[in-house]
Amino acid sequence: MAYAVPKLTDYSADVLDKSAADLRAALKQEVLSVQSPDQWKTFRDRWLARKNGIVTQVNDLWLKSAPKGAKKLAGQTVNDLKKDVEEAAEGLRKSWETGQTIQVAYLGAEVPAAALEAYARDKVGPVDISLPGIQRPIGAEHPVMKTSREMCAVFQRLGYSIAEGPVIETDYYNFEALNFPPNHPARDTQDTVFIAGQQSKPQRERLLLRTHTSPVQIRTMEKMRPPIRIVIPGTVHRNDPPDASHSPMFHQIEGLAVDTNITFGDLKGTLDHAMKEFFGSSVKTSFRPSFFPFTEPSAELYISCFICGGSGKRGKDPCRPCKQTGWIEILGCGMVDPNVFEFVKDHGYNPKKVSGFAFGMGADRVALLKYGVDDIQLFFSGDVRFLRQWA
Ligand code: DAH
Repeated sequence: MAYAVPKLTDYSADVLDKSAADLRAALKQEVLSVQSPDQWKTFRDRWLARKNGIVTQVNDLWLKSAPKGAKKLAGQTVNDLKKDVEEAAEGLRKSWETGQTIQVAYLGAEVPAAALEAYARDKVGPVDISLPGIQRPIGAEHPVMKTSREMCAVFQRLGYSIAEGPVIETDYYNFEALNFPPNHPARDTQDTVFIAGQQSKPQRERLLLRTHTSPVQIRTMEKMRPPIRIVIPGTVHRNDPPDASHSPMFHQIEGLAVDTNITFGDLKGTLDHAMKEFFGSSVKTSFRPSFFPFTEPSAELYISCFICGGSGKRGKDPCRPCKQTGWIEILGCGMVDPNVFEFVKDHGYNPKKVSGFAFGMGADRVALLKYGVDDIQLFFSGDVRFLRQWA
């Protein structure tokens, strides 16, 4: 039963002493059972609340109601009790805040260790402002994102702006409007991951994971009239089993410039400049014929190997990144096929009036080369020991 203050009828020294001893016993028991700051507050209110705390009750029941002759003794008893209760509450609070065991003298007890631990758990003690602050690790830009951003920045300095588009794309934007006709074998090169359950839709509306960033060329031309110059960073997906140079999810950077009288010379000059900016001014470029459905003519851009300087050798050893050829394939490019402009001609792209060039490269591949990493999986395995190198 919780302690309750008794009414006194007899104010003799014996009765007062006995009553005071009962109260102190209850106080000691309650002080030692406090285990948390919340319990401390409850304790303080029960004993010291001005309105109906135990100390106030004692004052009312033992002192105010005492007959004249007993006032002096009752007053002294009540005052002593009040001091003890206050000291107990204060000692308890201090022991937690300082983290030191405080002797609460009259209790003949120390505040128990359990109470200290509970307090440390629930409440931070006094703040030592001379301690160094807590340094939280802030992470670092991922090498692929860094590469992509830096490559985009090269083109932004040439006046290009950034464009983006959805990763879940329709057949129309990923293929049809890029001059891959339905059932054309060129689609087979793209190892497409299709979204299930689309058969009831017309083919051009069926959803897939975009296999390249090229659909954003079409989406942007639908929104912006020529002239345009854009770079398009983003993730793409292909149904490739993961190995050292393949990942089913990877990153591309696409470019598109459309205006009147854009020529293959503009394409070569722009990309030559961009490669020198990005890889260093001693890098040479080489354009070799290729095929993409949405460009005509199409080319692959090679840069001279910046690792072996184009010799194909590193000392006596063969240079691996360029497979001893002295050249590294970096991207696909070409002049925008007029068939592509046909799909956006209502947006101001008359194939007879405008011309343009486009290019697309793998950001992960560029990052592998730039940082001399030999396994693309390292970029996506989330191993902090690897990623910390870019912090
Ligand atoms: N979209 C092509 C791919 O993923 C890369 C590419 C080649 C993009 C030529 C272009 C381009 O814009 O002109 O394989």
